[in-house]
Amino acid sequence: MNPTVTPAPGLLLPALDLPPSFKWGVATSSYQIEGAVAEDGRTPSIWDTFCRVPGAVVGGDNGDVACDHYHRMPQDVALIKSLGVDTYRFSVAWPRVQPGGRGPANPAGLAFYDRLTDELLAAGIDPWVTLYHWDLPQELEDAGGWPNRDTAYRFADYAMLVFDRLGDRVRTWTTLNEPWCSAWLGYYVGVHAPGRKNFGDSIAAVHHLLLGHGLATQRMRAAATRETTFGITLNMGTADPATDTSADRDAARRADGMGLRIYLDPLRKGEYPADMVEDLAARGTAFPVRDGDLAVIATPFEVLGVNFYFGQDFSGTDEHGNTTDADGLPVVRAVLPEGPRTAMDWPITADRFTRLLVRLSRDYPDLPMVITENGAAFDDIADADGAVADADRTAYLAEHIAAVVAAREQGADVRGYFAWSLMDNFEWAEGYAKRFGIVHVDYATQVRTPKQSALWYRDTISRARGN
Ligand code: NOJ
Repeated sequence: MNPTVTPAPGLLLPALDLPPSFKWGVATSSYQIEGAVAEDGRTPSIWDTFCRVPGAVVGGDNGDVACDHYHRMPQDVALIKSLGVDTYRFSVAWPRVQPGGRGPANPAGLAFYDRLTDELLAAGIDPWVTLYHWDLPQELEDAGGWPNRDTAYRFADYAMLVFDRLGDRVRTWTTLNEPWCSAWLGYYVGVHAPGRKNFGDSIAAVHHLLLGHGLATQRMRAAATRETTFGITLNMGTADPATDTSADRDAARRADGMGLRIYLDPLRKGEYPADMVEDLAARGTAFPVRDGDLAVIATPFEVLGVNFYFGQDFSGTDEHGNTTDADGLPVVRAVLPEGPRTAMDWPITADRFTRLLVRLSRDYPDLPMVITENGAAFDDIADADGAVADADRTAYLAEHIAAVVAAREQGADVRGYFAWSLMDNFEWAEGYAKRFGIVHVDYATQVRTPKQSALWYRDTISRARGN
């Protein structure tokens, strides 16, 4: 730990009323930290391709080197251990393990995750694997990507390659990370890989991502030889009407439907929400459901991963007062709540986090939750030693951890909290400009330096455990 920064005492939380079993972790993902994109048989993913599209990523950045974690894994595990967390959530790069997305496993690729798992276990840290954090093998995109039904089956095959190798040691498996981002940002808005802009494709992608989740969960569970926890991670916010007009209430309904209910309803209730099906029909499209799909998607799972960053308000009118856009579609306009913002220009809305968790526990009962990501980017200023006195990030984490405790007091079954992220990394379309780490990374030297928030987090965990 770097001795030049100390936790800000004013931000210490009051005693946290959490059970000893409450998990504390840090999270990362493969493409954001690993680098080594052409090593040991890895083939390109859609992000390698997308980063080369002029203008797609701020600064023309890419994940070629990132945090060079592939070559620094043992030191990074030591760093994780120094934070006192009990869990490390990482993702497996599909094109490393199964180059091209089909066929047999690549032994060298699997060996990396094998070593990582063993290193974590030796350090007393529980590995929590995410199978898909957005790095689809490019060949599968060339064959149609997630809008193509076959990708769901390819995903289940790939999941089994990883499960067969690590299932004896990894107890918790997340199939997908934030399928909304894959489907909506990747296939409709086009700001994430593969950068396509077709509404119908994004709807097909939603269905095939969910199908892939169900197929993979069924196959892994059938192969499990010991108690194993399966789940999926969704990014969720709160969608409130900006005012009480019926147009704004309808906009909030649509935003909530597209952002949350079209995932959780099929996963937990075995059906897409009727109002969303109707809205899609009005737009001339539909989820490409085949017989039996919804039963597969509703395969039981044990933990919902919740990624929370902020909540938003929605308006059903544009800046000129129109309720339909140029294509005649109802306006759904995000209005950011007043108050402080992060470097991503995201509002800080910890109270809405509590409200989201309580709502999830009511609308989707009997589903334990773990906060698989929460954190913030700020414009950090590192001193000559790389130390960062990030009181803003520390405050963000403190408020959001307090929000989790408040939600638990109101009955939400939240069993863990993982900070995003272990260290600064490749923030997708924002490149390296946005820093979410609790550990600072000097990209020129690859030196990692815990920020004030990391020291505070370490101490908070220790106090929560009563030490
Ligand atoms: C969610 C994503 O899972 C992660 O990859 C990303 O870096 C964070 N949000 C911050 O935007």
